[in-house]
Amino acid sequence: MNPAETKSWGVLSQLAETDGKRHLRELFAEEPGRFERFSFEAAGLFLDASKAQVTGPVMDALLGLAEEVGVEKRRRRMFAGEPINETEGRSVLHMALRDNRDGKYKADGADPMGDIEDVRQRMKAFCDAVLSGDRRGATGKPLTTVVNIGIGGSDLGPVMVTEALKPYWIEGRDVHFVSNVDGTHLVETLRRCDPETTLFTIASKTFTTQETMTNAHSAREWFLASGRSEADVASHFVALSTNHEATAAFGIEEENVFGFWDWVGGRYSLWSAIGLPIALTVGWEAFEDLLSGAHAMDRHFEEAPADKNLPLLFGLIGLWHRTFLDMPAVAVLPYDQSLHRLPAYLQQADMESNGKSRRLDGLPAGYETGPIVFGEPGTNGQHAFYQLIHQGTTVIPCELIAPAVSHNPLGDHHEKLLANFLAQPEALMVGVTEDEAFTQLKEQGASDEEAKRLAPHKAFPGGRPSLSVLMQKLTPETLGALIALYEHKIFVQGAVWGVNSYDQFGVELGKVLAKPILAELKNEADGDHDASTAGLIARVRSLRSG
Ligand code: F6P
Repeated sequence: MNPAETKSWGVLSQLAETDGKRHLRELFAEEPGRFERFSFEAAGLFLDASKAQVTGPVMDALLGLAEEVGVEKRRRRMFAGEPINETEGRSVLHMALRDNRDGKYKADGADPMGDIEDVRQRMKAFCDAVLSGDRRGATGKPLTTVVNIGIGGSDLGPVMVTEALKPYWIEGRDVHFVSNVDGTHLVETLRRCDPETTLFTIASKTFTTQETMTNAHSAREWFLASGRSEADVASHFVALSTNHEATAAFGIEEENVFGFWDWVGGRYSLWSAIGLPIALTVGWEAFEDLLSGAHAMDRHFEEAPADKNLPLLFGLIGLWHRTFLDMPAVAVLPYDQSLHRLPAYLQQADMESNGKSRRLDGLPAGYETGPIVFGEPGTNGQHAFYQLIHQGTTVIPCELIAPAVSHNPLGDHHEKLLANFLAQPEALMVGVTEDEAFTQLKEQGASDEEAKRLAPHKAFPGGRPSLSVLMQKLTPETLGALIALYEHKIFVQGAVWGVNSYDQFGVELGKVLAKPILAELKNEADGDHDASTAGLIARVRSLRSG
């Protein structure tokens, strides 16, 4: 169905011209209970949406829109294992990976829980054996370093989570992630590794991805060049993949392959075998806690009423900003250094999911869909791009995330961090009028003329929306809940826009075109290109030969 033809869509389009244009200062002045009304809580996360550009009528219309387009029905279909990834004919069941209820899910008509439990037990046993030293390298040394080779969903989730859970790292463990096909990534990483104590996890759902396969082969060559035999490869290489034929062809024995299924999308796969490097770094228990935090959010998403449902409301508010108020981007701003890879992770999760312009029925959407996602940890971002967010011509809703308690209490560092976490949304919301700026300048001793000249530059428009996510502490549980919150937010938005959030055909064309160009760069073929590409290829060749 076309969501733009619903009654609620029409109402929201009108509200965009009225409520959407009201200054947040005004909305707060009018409604003292605004904070209570627009803050929500679930699974250890507190969401303050009162500084978003929403009003009561807007929220009602958004919930009406969700109902009219059938978000709840689509959610039920997803949890029931129906192939809601219609273009690929697949179910979307990453939630099953963090559940343990028999009979709850169906994948291709069968309960997947037995298979899930099987892989989980194998992962746990492997993890325990590596961590206890029962499973060692070919020369008998413990495997203390993990090098994960993967890209996209087979990299970003595990990198983000292992960084976020640094306080939970098991003493003496080390983990590296190699993703880029740029040889520098592998070379610089392996410089810091000892082949005798390194375990490679080759992570690729398809086991055909050019970058990953190239890195995996080079890693194996590096390993063999250290004096080890082909037989020793089995002690140092495991595969995380759905493609057992390809893992066998690479030379990895079945007992060293940890599988998953095509109903786990790459960018939703950190809960599957793809999470093995996480478990090898923080231990099995912490990995399970991560799963249970995500499961708590799944239960909330499935069971909470619409007007209290965190992912639903988070998604709908984001959609209001994006589609009806025409705000093109979202800034993800974790006030926690250990979440420094969260923006990169969410770029794939969100932009690969909802960066679509065709609806499921194949017709052009005709309205704005997935936003541009970017971000950096606060406070660093404040000294970089916040200028544009505060005073630029584009309004960018911000999502600020912070734990109240730090794992690393150090003097008043955390209070300072939190003060910034709280002050930035306040500044974005309140702003400074030109009159206020003029008065402030006068108070600081400026002349009338000087104050008049500078006031426009020192004024902040304010009324810039933000949402704040607060948790007590960043633990495996709260991190799991946070990631699941975003996954379901993306689902909700995709469901309203009517796009398929679970395919990614947009990444294919570049891959296809790179193949013949590779042959040309290796002087194995001549190609036929547009003048610009042909000119660049010629220039690259001449620079390389010169
Ligand atoms: O190129 C995009 C993509 O297909 C992602 O969706 C995926 O996460 C990534 O490549 C890696 O794929 P694989 O795990 O199959 O190597």
